[in-house]
Amino acid sequence: VVDIRKLYGQTGAFTYDPGFTSTASCRSEITYIDGDEGVLLHRGYPIGELAEQSSFMEVAYLLLNGELPSADELDGFSRTISRHTMVHEQLATFFRGFRRDAHPMAIMCGVVGALSAFYHDSTDIHDPQQRMIASHRLIAKIPTIAAMAYKYSVGQPFLYPDNSLSYTGNFLRMTFGVPAEPYEVNPAVEKAMDRIFILHADHEQNASTSTVRLAGSSGANPFACMAAGIACLWGPAHGGANEAALNMLHEIGTPDRIPEYIARAKDKNDPFRLMGFGHRVYKNYDPRATVMQKTVREVFEALNVSDPVFETALKLEEIALNDPYFVEKKLFPNVDFYSGVILSAIGFPTSMFTVLFALARTVGWVAQWNEMITDPDQKIGRPRQLYTGPTQRSYTPVGER
Ligand code: ACO
Repeated sequence: VVDIRKLYGQTGAFTYDPGFTSTASCRSEITYIDGDEGVLLHRGYPIGELAEQSSFMEVAYLLLNGELPSADELDGFSRTISRHTMVHEQLATFFRGFRRDAHPMAIMCGVVGALSAFYHDSTDIHDPQQRMIASHRLIAKIPTIAAMAYKYSVGQPFLYPDNSLSYTGNFLRMTFGVPAEPYEVNPAVEKAMDRIFILHADHEQNASTSTVRLAGSSGANPFACMAAGIACLWGPAHGGANEAALNMLHEIGTPDRIPEYIARAKDKNDPFRLMGFGHRVYKNYDPRATVMQKTVREVFEALNVSDPVFETALKLEEIALNDPYFVEKKLFPNVDFYSGVILSAIGFPTSMFTVLFALARTVGWVAQWNEMITDPDQKIGRPRQLYTGPTQRSYTPVGER
C-alpha cells in the first residue's frame, strides 16, 4: 500500500485554500485594503485623496518609489516617461498580423509580450538599472500600444506620441486624433481620464497582479510578465467586468426591467450575476466606485451629454442595495459598475474598456514586480494541490482495456 501523500510529497502542515481567499502569497508595502470598512490606501494615502488631488504620473511615482515626489522629482519622472513613449517602428508590423476584428485585449497580450523581442537591454531582472528602464518603458509605451490597438480596430492610421502633452492628454490624442487635423484635448475629459487611471492603478494581490508576480517569480522578463497580467485581466470576473457591466446595463435597457435581472442574479439555477457588483475583498462600498459615480456626472456636464444607461445604473444600485440578498452577501457596486458609463461617454467602444484598465494597472504590476524581485524572501511561486485522483495502479496495454 502506497501512502499517496508521501508519494507526492504532501506531508506536514498543509492548507487547502481554493482561490487563495485567506493565504498571503507575499508581503507588500504598496497597497492596503480594508474590505470591511471600504478603505483603499496606496503607500498610506487614501484613494479618494489621490483621485481628487493628485495626478496619474504622481501616483505612478508613488507606487514605484514609495513616497510622493517633490515638484522636481515629478517633473523628472514625467520627462523620463515621455522620452519612452515611442515604440519601435517594426512593432507596428505586429498589429498588421491581427484580423481587423480582433479584440484589442488579444492584440495587447501579443504586442506587450513582443516588447521583449525589442528591448534586450532591459531584461536582466537582477540589474536595478535595467529593471528601472523596463519599468519606465512599460509605463510609457502602454498608452501608445493601447491607442494603436484602437486605431487598428477602426482602420485609422497610427499617430505618433506628442510628448508636449501630458501622459493622459497624449493618450487621448493618439486615440481620438487623426493625422493632419488639430486635436484639442478637452481638459475636463483629460482630468476624468487621469482620475480613472488613478482609480485602477493598483489593488494589491488581485488575480492579474498575482499572475504577474507568479510569472515573474520564475525570472521571466518583465514584458512577458505584463502580457501574462493582461491575459488574466481580460476575464469577465476581473478587468473584463467593466465591459460586461455596460453590456448588461444596455441589455436591461429601462429601469422597469431591473427587477427581472435582480431576480435572475438571485436565482441559484441561473449563472447570471450582476456585473460590476461584488468583490472578493470589499464587503462594503468600493471606495473607487464612489469617485467613479461622481466622475460620471462631471464628464456628462463637461461634454454636455446624458445617457439613460446612467439612470438605469443608479436605479439598479438603489434596488440592489435595498434587497436582502445583496445586503446579506455584502454585494456592493465595484469600480467597474460606473466606469463603462464614463468611458462610453468619452467615446471608447466597450471592447477598449479592459484595455484602459490594463493601461492603468501596468503601473501597479510594475511596482509589484519590482517589489517581488527585491524581496529577500522571494521564491519561485509554486502552489501545491490537494490530490484527489486515483491511487497508484498498473498500466494495462490498450488491447486489454
Ligand atoms: N451577482 C449576484 N450574486 C453574486 C454576485 C453578483 N455580482 N457576486 C457574488 N454573488 C454571490 C455568489 O453567487 C455567492 O453566493 P452563494 O454564497 O450563495 O454561493 C456569494 O455572492 C459570494 O460570491 P463568490 O463568487 O463566492 O465571491 P468571490 O469573492 O469569489 O467573487 C467576484 C467575487 C468574482 C467579483 C463576484 O462578486 C462576481 O462575479 N462579480 C461580478 C463580476 C465583477 O463585477 N467583477 C469585477 C470585480 S472588481 C475588479 O476586478 C476590478
